[in-house]
Amino acid sequence: MLSVVKVGGAAVSDAAGLQRLVQDVAALSGNAVVVHGGGKEISAWQERLELPVEWRDGLRVTGPDALRVTAMVLSGWMNKRVVQAFEDRGVTAVGISGEDGSLIQAVPAQGGALGAVGEVVRVRPDLLEALLGAGFHPVVSPVSRGPDGHPLNVNADEAALHVAAAIGADRMYLVSDVPGVLDEGEVLRELTLDGARALVEEGVAQGGMAVKLRQALVAARAGVEVAIGDGRILRDFRAGTVLHGSNEGVAGAMEVAS
Ligand SMILES: Nc1ncnc2c1ncn2[C@@H]1O[C@H](COP(=O)(O)OP(=O)(O)OP(=O)(O)O)[C@@H](O)[C@H]1O
Ligand SMILES: [Mg+2]
Repeated sequence: MLSVVKVGGAAVSDAAGLQRLVQDVAALSGNAVVVHGGGKEISAWQERLELPVEWRDGLRVTGPDALRVTAMVLSGWMNKRVVQAFEDRGVTAVGISGEDGSLIQAVPAQGGALGAVGEVVRVRPDLLEALLGAGFHPVVSPVSRGPDGHPLNVNADEAALHVAAAIGADRMYLVSDVPGVLDEGEVLRELTLDGARALVEEGVAQGGMAVKLRQALVAARAGVEVAIGDGRILRDFRAGTVLHGSNEGVAGAMEVAS
């Protein structure tokens, strides 16, 4: 079993929660790659530095200063806190970003309309496979390498999806600050692909959750089983919302999604 675990910023910011999380990741059967976000922490630092925080369709607009803050917060502080949490438990982990070894290659999203926000074009599986083969837990910050070598800010759910596709993961866990995909306060236990799309179109899933569902849909179409919820999904895959995989293959799935 090969898993990709994406942890949202809220989970990473809370030290006690993070300890529990890494314990559960370490207990998963088979190998796991961790990809982390950090949206709220980036916003908090932008505010401290009096930089504007701008959003469009749930995606962060990233100017030149915001890009520096994003790289410092995600690839620097947060990445190493996840690594620390693993190491504190005696589990060897190596923190890298999408820039290291050109792991995640991206191009400016929406023709550059979102500033230095990237969309993924390629993930190199070899670095992750080498780390996993040597017994290290890779911990990935989604800051990625742009076409001119400059960093681009990639949404962590999107990075996780492409990492999952590149390494042929069986499961993707999207650990967030909500117990699952909610409709009128209730967790939706199971979503079909059409159901997930409808939730986004009808505006039931908004902002970060709409982004997450779009990525989850592509992953599910590519044959990856996806769970969305809080840390409990690591102990029980069905504790939140589950999307089942189909078998269109990742290339076909991405074509349909675009
Ligand atoms: N229908 C919905 N069900 C659940 N959450 C929803 C829904 N619609 C919108 N949301 C919002 O989506 C948020 C989760 O996405 P968000 O991008 O904020 O977190 P994340 O992806 O886990 O973390 P990060 O962006 O730091 O990686 C929830 O906190 C909630 O406010
Ligand atoms: Mg998010």
